[in-house]
Amino acid sequence: MRIGLLGTGNVARTLAHRWRAAGHDVLLGSRRPRERGGLGLAVAGLDETAAHAEVLVNATPGGVSLDLLRSIGAPALAGTLLIDVGVGLSDDFSTLTHPNNSLGELIQEAFPLTPVVKTLCTMDATTMVAPGDLTEPGTVFLSGDDPEAKATTGKLLTDLGWPVSSQLDIGGITTARGQEHFAFLFMGIAGGVGSHTFNVKVVTRP
Ligand SMILES: NC(=O)c1ccc[n+]([C@@H]2O[C@H](COP(=O)([O-])OP(=O)(O)OC[C@H]3O[C@@H](n4cnc5c(N)ncnc54)[C@H](OP(=O)(O)O)[C@@H]3O)[C@@H](O)[C@H]2O)c1
Repeated sequence: MRIGLLGTGNVARTLAHRWRAAGHDVLLGSRRPRERGGLGLAVAGLDETAAHAEVLVNATPGGVSLDLLRSIGAPALAGTLLIDVGVGLSDDFSTLTHPNNSLGELIQEAFPLTPVVKTLCTMDATTMVAPGDLTEPGTVFLSGDDPEAKATTGKLLTDLGWPVSSQLDIGGITTARGQEHFAFLFMGIAGGVGSHTFNVKVVTRP
């Protein structure tokens, strides 16, 4: 698929390398593409990246993502699946920028013709693309209102190494709130285990 990733940071680059290795046509979207040479990945401006994408991934700081998407504009994003990995946190990681809401919901509300799927934001970038390196993959969550968009996202998660049995659809885009607010528990667990490279697993009664 043609995958555009907004952002040239840790998450965007990590996902792009893995999806490219799986055979996808990936393009990173930057505010300053001419300054982003040497990443070993194709980089373009934000508008060009959105135009390229069948699937667009938001991997920008959650507090600025809505403004960035608005600068691209709703017409350019209409009909494009948007996978949102962003979490809005203050610079010192002490507060959420959307404490009574979620970035995923706000994007869906602002861009009703763009199906939004929230996923992967409950783990470190390393784990996003290498769940098989853990003792077991654990659980990756999907939130979104559009079943087809979630099915496509599930296939792209499989390409990152996530078995279907690890992918848990937790409901509509309102459930993105739980994924984003997990950030605080993530930081607590990271402190407890002394590493950011871990995942959580949902277990049930047999
Ligand atoms: N790092 C993780 O392991 C992790 C895990 C879960 C969720 N997340 C979420 O995923 C998103 C990306 O995380 P990341 O670690 O890849 O972040 P990062 O390394 O800081 O990269 C963010 C990228 O966004 C672009 N950007 C656009 N507007 C920006 C602005 N106003 N300020 C700074 N950068 C801006 C930048 O690319 P250009 O300068 O080229 O435009 C930058 O490289 C965040 O929302 C984060 O909360 C990260």
